[in-house]
Amino acid sequence: MNIVRNAGIAGTILAAAIGWASAEAGAPFDRAQVERGRYLVTIGGCNDCHTSGYLERSGAVPEHEWLTGMAIGYQGPWGTTYPSNLRLVASRMSAEEWVEHARKERMPPMPWFNLRAMTDSDLVAVYAYVRSLGAPGEAAPAYVAPGGRVTTPYFVFVPRQDDPRAATR
Ligand code: HEC
Repeated sequence: MNIVRNAGIAGTILAAAIGWASAEAGAPFDRAQVERGRYLVTIGGCNDCHTSGYLERSGAVPEHEWLTGMAIGYQGPWGTTYPSNLRLVASRMSAEEWVEHARKERMPPMPWFNLRAMTDSDLVAVYAYVRSLGAPGEAAPAYVAPGGRVTTPYFVFVPRQDDPRAATR
């Protein structure tokens, strides 16, 4: 197999097991898998939160900025969460670890239940794509518990209801 040419015996076994070359830096990526991962990330809305400015600019953010995390928090009863820098997260784990990690329960507004519904091969494709992006960059700010001091801008994720009588006045 061409894609595992330089991956060594362990890489060949891993590739045979999960259909992807290796998580090592510089290892060749399976192009079809990277493309599939790019597609899943795009339609899965991952950039909406994990890429700064993506929602505000209707997706017009260059790909070299994708999935590097966001320094604007989401605040609600759970505290304040920040969409992680997925490049950094993926760079620290193997494809198998990513598949397990991606299925864990997360705090809002991360739609972790959608990620959990993805097949192993789709999650590995997302991993291959994220790894292919290179340059991991800086971590997103750390989670702040409810009532804690938040030093970044943040969105407040709490439903509001205007007084219906106010509208008729
Ligand atoms: C509505 C916003 C939102 C969307 C959409 C979203 N995420 Fe997240 N994601 C977050 C937030 C916020 C966190 C941090 C949650 C926490 O701290 O528990 C997170 C955390 C994660 C983590 C855990 C990373 C770590 O730090 O260990 C993974 C993996 C992840 N997201 C993958 C994805 C993927 C893949 C998609 C697209 C299919 C996606 N997310 C879509 C907001 C989002």
